[in-house]
Amino acid sequence: MAHPGKQAAALAALEYVENDALLGVGTGSTVNVFIDALAASGRRISGAVASSEATAERLKSHGIEVLDLNITGQLELYIDGADESNPALQLIKGGGGALTREKIIASASRQFICIVDQSKRVDILGEFPLPIEVLPMARSFVAREIVRMGADPEFREAARTDNGNIILDCYGFSITDPIALEAAINAIPGVLTNGLFAARAADLLLVGHDDGQVDTV
Ligand code: 5RP
Repeated sequence: MAHPGKQAAALAALEYVENDALLGVGTGSTVNVFIDALAASGRRISGAVASSEATAERLKSHGIEVLDLNITGQLELYIDGADESNPALQLIKGGGGALTREKIIASASRQFICIVDQSKRVDILGEFPLPIEVLPMARSFVAREIVRMGADPEFREAARTDNGNIILDCYGFSITDPIALEAAINAIPGVLTNGLFAARAADLLLVGHDDGQVDTV
């Protein structure tokens, strides 16, 4: 049984799904609730683009067709969770390691609805360690660059992304300018993506509370 806040946010997102929609679907425990609820709702969708192998498997297990983003073109709606959100709906994502595909699909979608429980809301991003997906050969180099930028990178042990890369979880960034930091980290050779979703923030945040209430932000 998922956390009640996650459950409430995920169920609220169903209201935004139109019949025959082509959906982008994120990754994580909140999204898993959404996928299961979507399947149980009987709503008919044309198919979904998945941000991870795990999400693709879950969608398929419910008989939902998984499509290639190269074939679908722009999507109307992307639904995904987050690890943190600030009041501008800029996010930290990637706790589940799917950040690169998530950022691609979010950017390729007209609307991005983010579903979170209340604990994910913060004033300033960065309490949650910022994940960075890095090509394996660049691990040490990128880690040194991150230290030079004032943060403390930690290698996520025994974790490979769906793209075959590694993750550095970075502690201690003071993220007062998320757009600038997102661009600066992405400019380090060997970085595939970082988990700041600031240039492409969410358009709508559905925040679930323990009592089942949902705030729309
Ligand atoms: C995966 C993500 C997830 O959206 C994020 O980690 C939140 O997960 P959960 O819904 O399990 O709390 O970015 O890469």
